Amino acid sequence: MKVTRNIKVNYMDPVKQLMDEHRVIERLLDVFDKIIAGTENGINVSPELVMKNVGMLMECANEYHGAKEEDVIIPYLEEKGKTELKAALVSFSNEYDACLKYMDNILEVLDDYASGDLSVTMKIVENGLKFIEEVRPIFEKEDEAVFKLLKKGLSKEELEELGEMIQEFEYSWPGPMIGNYQKMVRDMERDAGRIIW
Ligand SMILES: [Fe+2]
Repeated sequence: MKVTRNIKVNYMDPVKQLMDEHRVIERLLDVFDKIIAGTENGINVSPELVMKNVGMLMECANEYHGAKEEDVIIPYLEEKGKTELKAALVSFSNEYDACLKYMDNILEVLDDYASGDLSVTMKIVENGLKFIEEVRPIFEKEDEAVFKLLKKGLSKEELEELGEMIQEFEYSWPGPMIGNYQKMVRDMERDAGRIIW
């Protein structure tokens, strides 16, 4: 009997991958928002949860997603002469980077918070609210103004090539991948839900 198989070539869809990453980052921001609301309402949120959330947020948004944009996608768009898309992505990336000053203020006092110093709580709340407010809208805007337009702005071959480059980034990335982050953020939502609402 002749066995036939459908061999499907699977290449990474860069647009889906990048937008999935945005959704994970947004969910981490939503957990952060709940944590802050809980803290403001006098709920004793465990420092471990705060540190886990902030740590995962910074790792996923800066080192996993942001590095991919800066080291892979921006140079690729530059190389292919896609100046408008590149300029838009650079501008969003700069907008995000400017918000990291709030996170720096939080990271400065996170160890104190973890060791029980509640006098730093307001600093975490104030900077956290500013960070969330300014960063939260960036991802959807970036989807619309950059990522969704990649399908029109790049040829099928270029999209495949970009997908391969992102795949290479994934292979060399020592941390969790998107599927792991999706599971980790689900666990964190559950943990935060038990404590805060
Ligand atoms: Fe992004």
